Amino acid sequence: MNILILGSGGREHTLTWKIAQSDKAQNIYVAPGNAGTAGIATNIAVAANDFQAVKNLVIEKEIDMVVVGPEDPLVMGIHDFFLKDDAINHVKVIGPQKAGAILEGSKEAAKEFMALHKIPTAAYQSFTAKSLEAGFQFLETLKPPYVLKADGLAAGKGVLILDDIDEAKAELKNMLVGEKFGSASAKVVIEEFLSGIELSVFLLTDGENYLTLPTAKDYKRIGEGDTGLNTGGMGAISPVPFADDAFMKKVEERIIKPTVNGFKEDNIPYKGFVFIGLIKVGDDPYVIEYNVRMGDPETEVVIPRVKNDMVELLNAMAEGRLDEVQLEIDDRTATTVMTVSGGYPEAYEKGKEIVGLDSIEDSIVFHAGTSQIDGKVVTSGGRVIALTSFGKDYREALDKSYASAKKLCFDGIYYRKDIGFDL
Ligand code: AMP
Ligand code: GLY
Repeated sequence: MNILILGSGGREHTLTWKIAQSDKAQNIYVAPGNAGTAGIATNIAVAANDFQAVKNLVIEKEIDMVVVGPEDPLVMGIHDFFLKDDAINHVKVIGPQKAGAILEGSKEAAKEFMALHKIPTAAYQSFTAKSLEAGFQFLETLKPPYVLKADGLAAGKGVLILDDIDEAKAELKNMLVGEKFGSASAKVVIEEFLSGIELSVFLLTDGENYLTLPTAKDYKRIGEGDTGLNTGGMGAISPVPFADDAFMKKVEERIIKPTVNGFKEDNIPYKGFVFIGLIKVGDDPYVIEYNVRMGDPETEVVIPRVKNDMVELLNAMAEGRLDEVQLEIDDRTATTVMTVSGGYPEAYEKGKEIVGLDSIEDSIVFHAGTSQIDGKVVTSGGRVIALTSFGKDYREALDKSYASAKKLCFDGIYYRKDIGFDL
């Protein structure tokens, strides 16, 4: 098969790395890709959101399968775009159609889906500029901290958690009236605050059957001890030690099955990954959010543990045959440590030469924000290189990831040295 992977981060390098191990993969292209994918596939300078350019590429390279990495093209309807076009509707698109992608594209739609299918999640109400006063009144009924969520996509920045009611009211107004997150915050979901420890569960579903991939936990804050600004993710661990069989049984019965059944009941065609962000409150799981793609950097620890042939797996999903597949999972722990540019997640410089990549032996190097210039690998994003390692437990695996991080050098390099601190 000829396969096109859309995206340019660590998630996409990992998916490409895994797909490249399959003898069913003939020609592999990544658009736009990074310096890591350039080493194992062919990068093409096409943006994932430019559907017409993606279509031209698919026709020119005779692509059989498109694996969509990030959420934007899915929420914008890339799968629907393919289905509607006779020239490309034979191509297998990995990722849900718009009707499914709205679970990530609209927080309110996700909450309504959960309410309808009785999936445990925080109590909520949603508001617009017209109902601002009602929003203030709803805040008065809640205990702090207050959780405000922009309804639409806001590049992972649309959630505010505030201790002070006056600040919460001011921010609500800012979001609804002041367009703090542009049109993404034209509607705001206000939620009850849940206190617990977070983890994520990933599914592969063909809309009828599903497979549960390994659990993972990521570390979103820039600072040690989970302090400072939110990032895309600074490291991850899989499996999550506290997600034992008893807990996972609750997740399956209360969350996974009602989610997949919900797709069927609501006639939502869904062929792709489902990323369920969970919080464990006491011993019970609640859904924090749905994403309609894999996580980054969760992919860097989940996918290397999957032993199955990735192309076979994705093919079975696209053809609605996931019931014929048995997942085989490496029972070792995988960890990843993300090295980032100095200043990230605020302003940072790009174009710094990365040295030491060839000296890393005990970890798998996944490129996140890199590009190649004059034969050199340079930084081109906030998150730069993820170092994934295996071990008998997360401590052993992390030791290897950290030893590898020490061998890596670029101007301004930073990484968290406390991944797993809360386990
Ligand atoms: P989200 O974009 O919905 O994943 O939210 C970003 C982060 O905000 C989550 O990873 C949680 O750490 C936190 N968060 C979101 N909703 C809640 C909630 N209801 N209670 C507590 N924390 C939350
Ligand atoms: N690491 C969180 C995400 O991919 O959304």
